Order: sequence, then C-alpha cells, then structure tokens
Amino acid sequence: MSLRHAPWAEGHDFSIGLKPIAPEHWLEGGEADPTARKDALLAAHRDLVWGETADSRAGQAEIADLLGVAAADDQPPLLAAARTVADDLILMEKTDGDWRVTALSLSAPTFFTAAEVLGKSLAELHGPVHGFAERFLVRVRRIFDGLRPELILERRNWTIVNSGESFTPHSAPVRAQIPDLRTETAGRDLFIRVERQTLRRLPRTGGALFTIRVWLDPLDSLTKDPERLAAFARAWREAPADFKAYKGFSLYAPLVEGFLRAHGETHSVNGT
Ligand code: HEM
Repeated sequence: MSLRHAPWAEGHDFSIGLKPIAPEHWLEGGEADPTARKDALLAAHRDLVWGETADSRAGQAEIADLLGVAAADDQPPLLAAARTVADDLILMEKTDGDWRVTALSLSAPTFFTAAEVLGKSLAELHGPVHGFAERFLVRVRRIFDGLRPELILERRNWTIVNSGESFTPHSAPVRAQIPDLRTETAGRDLFIRVERQTLRRLPRTGGALFTIRVWLDPLDSLTKDPERLAAFARAWREAPADFKAYKGFSLYAPLVEGFLRAHGETHSVNGT
C-alpha cells in the first residue's frame, strides 16, 4: 500500500512517540515471500543480517513460540522465526544492568549492521542520535523496565534516501550516487523511508522484542494527495536543524526543494 504511514505529518522532531496498539495490529504482514528475501541476504551477507550472543537462546525460543514457529535443528530459533515474517526481529535483554541487543535478524537496515549492534546497550546504539542521551535515554530505559506483558507499543520514524532498496547496511555507496541525481527525476529517485517499530515484553524470559518494518515510497507518490504533499513540505522545511543534520537532509535539499516547487509547494525555505 502506498504511503501507509505518514509520521512526518504528526511531528517534525526526534521523539520517543511510543503508542499502545491492539494485539491484532502487531505485525502488518502483506509481504508475499519474506523467507526468500531473507534467505538470499543471509547467504550473501550473514554477518550483516544475523547475530546472536551465547546466552540468548531461551529468549529467542520465546519469540519463536510467540510467532508459532516450531524449533528447527539447523537454525537458531530467532532466525527461524524471522524468516516467516516481513519484519526484522531484535531481542533485547537486560544484562549487567543495561538493556542490550542479544540476538537479531536485520534484513532491512537503515545504515547499520547486525555485527555492529550485537551486544550494544541502548546508550551505545543511540550514540549518533543527536540529543538522545540528554532527552530520551532515561525514559526509554524506564519503558523497557516497565513494559507490561499485555502492552504492545508502536513508533514510526522517517527519512529521505536515494534508494528504493530495503537492504541498505552502508550509507556510503548510496550517498555516492547523489551527484548523479537530477531535479527533474527527483520524485522517482528519492524515497521516503519509514520505519515502523514495535516493542513488547517477553513474559517468560523477561526480555523484550523490538521489531522494525521498512516502508519505502518514491516522493512522486505524494503528488496523488495534495494534503499529504503539503504536510510533507511542512515537515521537510520545519524540521529542527539537529534533526536535518542527523538525517543528512542537506545532501538532498536542492532536489527535494526542486520537487516541491515543481508540484506547487512554493513556500520559502527557512525564511530565505
Ligand atoms: C523502543 C525505544 C526506542 C526509541 C524511543 C528509539 C529512538 C530512536 C531515535 C529517536 C532514533 C533517531 C532516528 C529516529 O528518528 O528514529 C533512533 C535511531 C536508532 N535506533 Fe532507536 N529507539 C528505540 C529502540 C531501539 C532499539 C531496541 C534498537 C536496537 C537495535 C535501536 C537502534 C537504533 C539504531 C541503530 C539507530 C540509528 C543510530 C545511528 O544513526 O547510527 N533503537 N532510535
């Protein structure tokens, strides 16, 4: 479905933004064959898309049970579970007083890899996110600590990228293509990349399951709906400087501005 999620319409800054959802809305499904996509990535780049720590098998098995996936002799339980769903699955467990990534299947990364994040704490994971330690860390830790078993939380984020691929572990090869892009075709070549994330408790082992699902739509898909286009233009122009710098928006500014002007969104950029 095109533009299923429009988080830019709801807020322009970094936010925790976790909201409860009904259990029947947990994972959105709809991908015909996630197994084929994930198996191909696993065969080609195992360390980028899969990782587990030594003591994580009980938590992994709880996730497999939650998804109704039977144990397989030849596969870690979290991997067997992740192959059956469109979403990436990340097991978070509290060890040495900190919530850490203890196992993950990560097939749609936005510029990070399983190898890089395995074992990292919430603080370490979010080191590059401007202001995270000051504004969010304490609250996010508390959310992990206090998660009730019956509660499922959802958050969404967004960025702009010049790639329609869901598997983008590294930014450099993507960004190297930017100089070749032209304003006239920016609506086709630039994508709004939305991550829908969910978080829930694993009551048996005490861990938490974090899921990530990526949705990609070309900028052109905004032109079907003038209200969406206007909301996007506002978000693009009004996002705080920190947020824009973190997401590399200056790299895309002439292209996005050209696209917006070509479609009648002619307001000035930050008063200039
Ligand atoms: C559930 C609570 C969480 C909150 C509120 C949160 C919040 C954020 C925020 C605000 C960002 C900046 C991009 C954006 O706008 O989303 C971010 C980036 C990121 N988050 Fe989280 N996050 C959470 C959980 C996690 C977990 C469990 C992981 C485990 C892998 C994770 C991994 C990352 C990574 C790898 C980035 C990119 C950092 C970079 O630029 O290198 N986050 N997160």
